[in-house]
Amino acid sequence: MRLADLGAVVAIEQESFPKPWSLNAFLGQLANENSLNYVAEEDGRVIGYLVVTQFVGVWHLLDLAVHQDYRRRYVATELLENFFEESGRKPHRGYTLEVRKSNRGAIKMYESFGFICSGIRKGYYSDNGEDALIMWRDSEDMLA
Ligand SMILES: CC(C)(COP(=O)(O)OP(=O)(O)OC[C@H]1O[C@@H](n2cnc3c(N)ncnc32)[C@H](O)[C@@H]1OP(=O)(O)O)[C@@H](O)C(=O)NCCC(=O)NCCS
Repeated sequence: MRLADLGAVVAIEQESFPKPWSLNAFLGQLANENSLNYVAEEDGRVIGYLVVTQFVGVWHLLDLAVHQDYRRRYVATELLENFFEESGRKPHRGYTLEVRKSNRGAIKMYESFGFICSGIRKGYYSDNGEDALIMWRDSEDMLA
């Protein structure tokens, strides 16, 4: 993800989430040396993105979305595969993320990547008071 991608990224973000990240939030991630920020492109157009940051040895998947016209074409799968390949090369403690309890499609996708539900944050989402599932995946070292 580069500065020039952020217009398209923010547009996808706004159509994808009830409480979208601001442009500043993405700028902060681009400036963060502990973050990995990816975009997926088709014909030079940004169609999806993934933002991840490492904190105390754990990779936190912070934001993932795909343009609605391009969903169910394995765009998110490819973003995640690229990230796991890159992040798995260096020692770390594992991966975590939060997802709305109602977001069945995303939960299924994360489970297919080896994430398990490790807890619940009650009323985590301020727009509707929905619970978040905390999902966790061990590092490759621990799986070996
Ligand atoms: C969740 C999201 C990123 C998935 O992106 P995608 O590119 O469509 O996902 P993929 O095509 O790689 O899906 C891989 C698998 O995950 C599961 N999956 C993904 N979306 C699904 C859905 N809406 N319903 C059911 N299963 C789904 C399926 O098992 C799918 O494989 P299949 O198509 O062979 O059945 C996309 O729907 C999105 O941007 N949603 C809005 C934002 C969001 O919820 N982000 C996640 C926040 S934690």
